[in-house]
Amino acid sequence: MKIAVIGTGYVGLVTGTCLAECGNEVVGIDKDQGKIDTLHAGRLPIYEPGLLELVQRNRREGRLRFTTQLAEGIAEAQTIFICVGTPPGPDGEADLSHIWSAGEEVASLLANYKLIVVKSTVPVGTNAALEKRMRARSSIAFDMASNPEFLKEGAAVDDFMKPDRVVIGVRSPKAEQLLRDLYSPFLRTDHPLLVMTPESAEMTKYVANAMLATKISFINEMANLCEVMHADINDVRRGIGHDSRIGFQFLFPGPGYGGSCFPKDVNALIAMARKHGQPAHLIEAVEQVNQRQKRMLVRKIRQHFGDQLAGKCLAIWGLAFKPRTDDIREAPSLVLIDEMLKDGVRLQVHDPEATANVKAIYGEQIKYCERPYDALKGADALAIVTEWQEFRNPDFVVMHHLMKQPIIFDGRNIYEPKAMKALGYTYYGIGRVLDG
Ligand SMILES: NC(=O)c1ccc[n+]([C@@H]2O[C@H](COP(=O)([O-])OP(=O)(O)OC[C@H]3O[C@@H](n4cnc5c(N)ncnc54)[C@H](O)[C@@H]3O)[C@@H](O)[C@H]2O)c1
Repeated sequence: MKIAVIGTGYVGLVTGTCLAECGNEVVGIDKDQGKIDTLHAGRLPIYEPGLLELVQRNRREGRLRFTTQLAEGIAEAQTIFICVGTPPGPDGEADLSHIWSAGEEVASLLANYKLIVVKSTVPVGTNAALEKRMRARSSIAFDMASNPEFLKEGAAVDDFMKPDRVVIGVRSPKAEQLLRDLYSPFLRTDHPLLVMTPESAEMTKYVANAMLATKISFINEMANLCEVMHADINDVRRGIGHDSRIGFQFLFPGPGYGGSCFPKDVNALIAMARKHGQPAHLIEAVEQVNQRQKRMLVRKIRQHFGDQLAGKCLAIWGLAFKPRTDDIREAPSLVLIDEMLKDGVRLQVHDPEATANVKAIYGEQIKYCERPYDALKGADALAIVTEWQEFRNPDFVVMHHLMKQPIIFDGRNIYEPKAMKALGYTYYGIGRVLDG
């Protein structure tokens, strides 16, 4: 099948590349000249494990190319995926300007039948509204489909290649068949392709993210309660996880959820609920708990150092909103950095992939370190914000020597409080018993 993908960000680039890998001919289109230049130079504008090799192979074999020119990019395509960003607007509502402009531009260029698939996360009713806008600009026949994406950054290629399920929202049998054909190579292990209306498909994506965000805020709130009640969240987590109705997944306390999806989608769902006069108390609370949780490390650090904080040096390990990505959108690390800079704290930071993105915001206000241990030199404390694998088993003796004070604020509970105490550290986890 000939396919065009509009937007070569995390979703568009993975979608286009994986579709090419299955034998389709794919053109990736982006209006960002810099991104397309980077792709033409054989590099990736983002970090995503396993993606570079796939992009390189499919380009080499002539199934994948990139352009900034929409007209030329979609000319031959039978199916067009819209994968542009839907960032949060000022009042939490999704900003759909990229969706409207991409769809309207496509409509003005249509010369023959095409299937237009919206993969971006969009409020319920957007597919229908986009179709209306496009029909006002074109008399050529086309079909619309909603096909929300559930991939996780850091495991995006695997998630796309072996999805738990594919959701499509369609109103035409032709659109359904085209998408069934396109996705059949990815669903060989009997994972389902679920067909529904575009509205239900759009809603499915928000409900999935709201559920996951709810689990995170729930366990964070329980961890905070554990702290004041001298219970250990790690024991409690294991105690509940073995109940098959509850399970273990997504129940790890931390410094709040970030990234380009949960915060934005939770807020968009709240905005949708408000617009329709339907209260969404639980989801509003999920967001409030998360806002508070993102300041949790700040609170612990301020409490520990009191009025001695100004002039101290804090090492930070982990800047990306989660491991195996360079994405720092809404990352908890940014809240910590902002607050510590306000307090006059010197920062020495390390992240395996996200440093360049953080440097683009803070410039020379922060010291960026190539290696984790470099960030510890002369530090009064270490804060762990992202649980990259390489932080899990460091040499604590070397660390002790490097740091001015052996204090760790572990925002991901990757170390054991008792072991840390035995090694001579002052250790703060989340919801852990410190001297039990
Ligand atoms: N990132 C994720 O993990 C993820 C997962 C599932 C769903 N989503 C959703 O997918 C959508 C895209 O997310 P993303 O993270 O890939 O965004 P992104 O910001 O990384 O990429 C979007 C790309 O679209 C391009 N673009 C915007 N308007 C364009 C136009 N008119 N023509 C050509 N290119 C245009 C931008 O230049 C950018 O490169 C969002 O709605 C998001 O909520 C994201």
